[in-house]
This record gives sequence, structure tokens and C-alpha cells, in this order.
Amino acid sequence: MEKELIEDYVFHRDFTKQYPIITHGQGIYLYAEDGKRYIDACSGAVAANLGHGVEEIANAMAQQAKKAAFVHTMRFETDVLFELAEKIAKLSPSSMNKVYFTSGGSEANESALKLARQFHKDAGRSEKHIVIGRWQSYHGNTYGSLSAGGDIKRRHMYTPNLLNFSHIHSPNCKRCPYQRELAECESKKNWSCVSNLEILILELGPESISAFIAEPIVGSQLGAVSPPSAYFKEVRKICDKYNILLIVDEVMTGFGRTGKDFGIQHFGITPDIITFGKGVSAGYAPLAGMIVHDRVIEGLMHNSKGKFVHGYTYSGHPVSVAAGLSVLKIYERDLILTNVQETGHYLKQKLLDLKKICPIIFDIRGEGLLMGIELAIDGEKGTAFPSKIQASERINTIAMNLGAVFYPGSGSINGHEGDHFLIAPPLNVTKAEIDEIVGILEKSLQIFIKEIKEANSYETAK
Ligand SMILES: Cc1ncc(COP(=O)(O)O)c(C=O)c1O
Repeated sequence: MEKELIEDYVFHRDFTKQYPIITHGQGIYLYAEDGKRYIDACSGAVAANLGHGVEEIANAMAQQAKKAAFVHTMRFETDVLFELAEKIAKLSPSSMNKVYFTSGGSEANESALKLARQFHKDAGRSEKHIVIGRWQSYHGNTYGSLSAGGDIKRRHMYTPNLLNFSHIHSPNCKRCPYQRELAECESKKNWSCVSNLEILILELGPESISAFIAEPIVGSQLGAVSPPSAYFKEVRKICDKYNILLIVDEVMTGFGRTGKDFGIQHFGITPDIITFGKGVSAGYAPLAGMIVHDRVIEGLMHNSKGKFVHGYTYSGHPVSVAAGLSVLKIYERDLILTNVQETGHYLKQKLLDLKKICPIIFDIRGEGLLMGIELAIDGEKGTAFPSKIQASERINTIAMNLGAVFYPGSGSINGHEGDHFLIAPPLNVTKAEIDEIVGILEKSLQIFIKEIKEANSYETAK
């Protein structure tokens, strides 16, 4: 049936939907013009990490806009740029000391892919151009970042235009794509999700591979799935063996979200490039970028006359950078990391309790305040809901009616099947607010279960 076009001038995300109009926000709450209140239980898109209405950040941005709203980094720089870069570098591994700014996470990953290419080409390794990414990982929606990512649904429309990059499976031990058991992998010290990286490198020829890119904990695509604890150490060894740059995408996991400054700190390795976004400005301004290892910068100095052939008009935009600086000061002053560790533990416990009484929860996972819930018709066995039902979307719609927003996702089993969602409230959330979030989640799940029972058929449950 043809849907009616809503009469306004906005190119909406979905022209068939009518979205609530938000007039203002305060803390974890968003308020719509019809008076309805929503708990932002996913910080927008896991970005609004300090919640809404923080005047201190708004004032920092306004002050910078009054002083110098824009300068082009081809000609000028600003004091806030130096201050923020230093703060970020000091949170990073000690050998990563240069920070490049972009507006969004997709641009950050584009920059990293291009830097990897230039790093090799200028050193005489000009065949190195292929990036290896992972299925069911997301790195952005521009052609390069989409080519590196492995979200089948987002890629499908554009497949003919995508770059000739290659992919291996993301580790997902509860549903291992290689049908292996973690205990067996650990005892044999042989993980298929790692060995397949080396097999692919050898097949394509190490001389053609520039970089491997991975999220430390897979966010939107898998719903907060962590790899086996040895995964990144083994991947690091392989990248070193074949002179392949390791890019870790921390756009979602960076700046405290998982209970550490960067998600990769859970795994004890140093990447060559870390990309970041979202939490760096807590959603107050478009800001993202990459942190680059000294050896890559040395390569740039030696082989490229110190110049990266790349750049955006809004790289290092002073107002965005001022927002980031204010946000990082708040993270530090308000001991946000400690709050994430404490409330993250509390949230996980509450979700595990919910799993005990909710028959359609298959798995609770995640670190800090990046929690994932995987749903299944049968929570014990893990049988997936038919994708037609759009279970996670439906539960989120129910939750929105009840006044909370989650981050629904699907395709966690094989790119098509599997429903999950992220619970990722602002990092300054309180335990009382978590009680409120889990209360609405529980009610939403109950309503959904009732709906599918009443429909008595998964086909009509929608
Ligand atoms: C891990 C990861 N990388 C990259 C991106 C793309 O960032 P942006 O939407 O800011 O371009 C996202 C966005 O959700 C992400 O989660």
C-alpha cells in the first residue's frame, strides 16, 4: 500500500513516520511538544553521554562562537584545538600522540583508511590498499567506511559501488560463526576468528593489505558483543607480522562508555589508529577524529614531507572542539568513569535478574554502560524471532509509548536474523534512574509477549 507523504519540507529518515518533536531536554529526559517525557536510555545514538541541558557545555560553545566561530585549518589554528588534542592524547596509550579532528565517525574512519593507504604508499609499499573489516561491524555510512563495515542491510543497496575490501566474521562466542566452543579455542590456543584473518591475508597477499579495522566491542550490529580475551593480542601479532595497520574504531566505545577511557584497554594492546566520535562531545556538537601512533606520524614525516593528503572544511571546528574540551573536563571533574563502572555493574545485575523471569531474553552482555540484550522466541535455546516481526523495533515502539527510548538492532545472528537492543544511558545516570529504565523495559517486554501470544502466530504478531 502506498503511504501518504507528510506535508512539510524535511527529508525525513522515514517519510512514512511521524516523529515526536522535542522541545528541550534535561538530564536523561527529553520532553516533546505534546508534553510527553522520554527517558533517553540510549543517549540518542550512544552519543549524548552527559545527558541533556548541560549549560556549562552550551556556554563554552557560545563563548568560542563569539571569539572565533570558524577558521580553516589549512591557514589557521585555535588554542582550544591544542588543549583538546592534548587531553585526548593523554587519555590514549603513551605511544599515540597526534589527534586529527573530523565532524563525524564515518569521516573519522574514512580518514583512518586513507591514512593507512598513504602511510604504506609513501614508504614504497604501493600495492597495499585493501582493508580487511568484519561482517556485522559498523564503521559508518560513507562509501569507504561502509565498504570497511559488514552491515549487510546497509551495504546491500550500494554493493556495486563499494570498494574492493574484504571481511572476516566478527567473534560472537555465544553464536560462533565457526561453530566452535570458546573453551576448546582457549585450550587449544586456536581461535577460528583469528586464524581466518591470517588465512584471508595469505589468500589476498600480505603485500596488498593496508589495514585491519575492528570495533573493540561491537555496538549497533551485534549489541555489545566482546571478543575472546586473547583476540586482540593475537590480531595485533598478525598485523605486525604482515605490516598491516590495526585501526580500532572507538566511535561508540570511546571516552568512558565501557568503563575504561577506551574499549581497547579491556584487551591490553596498542592499535596504530584509534577512531573516535560521539562521546567526545557528548552530542553537543558534531565532533570525531582519530588518534595516531607515533610510528605512523614518523612515516608521514619521513616519507610524505609531513603532509596527509586529506582534510575537511570542518576539521577541528572551533565551536565543536570547545564543546569537546568542556565535555572532557566534566568527565574528569565529575569522576564519570567511576560512575560508569558502578552504575554499569548495577545495570548489568538488574538485567541479569530480568533475564531470570523473562522467557524471551537469550543473552545479556556488554561492559560499563554499553549493555546489549539479545532476544529469542525461546530464551533458553536462542531460537530467533522471524525477522518479519521486527521484535526489537516493536519492543522499542512499545517502550517509547511508555516513555523510554532504547537502541534496537537486528541481524545479530547472520546479518538478517536475530534481534537485540542496546541500553546505553548517559554516563552520569543514577541508580534510581536505572531502576526507572529497567522498569519500563520489563513492562515493554511483558506487553510484547502478550501481543505475540494474543496474535497466536508470529506472522500476524506485527
Ligand atoms: C562504531 C561506529 N563507527 C562509526 C560510526 C559512524 O559514525 P557517524 O554516524 O558519526 O558518522 C558509528 C555510528 O553509529 C559507530 O557506532
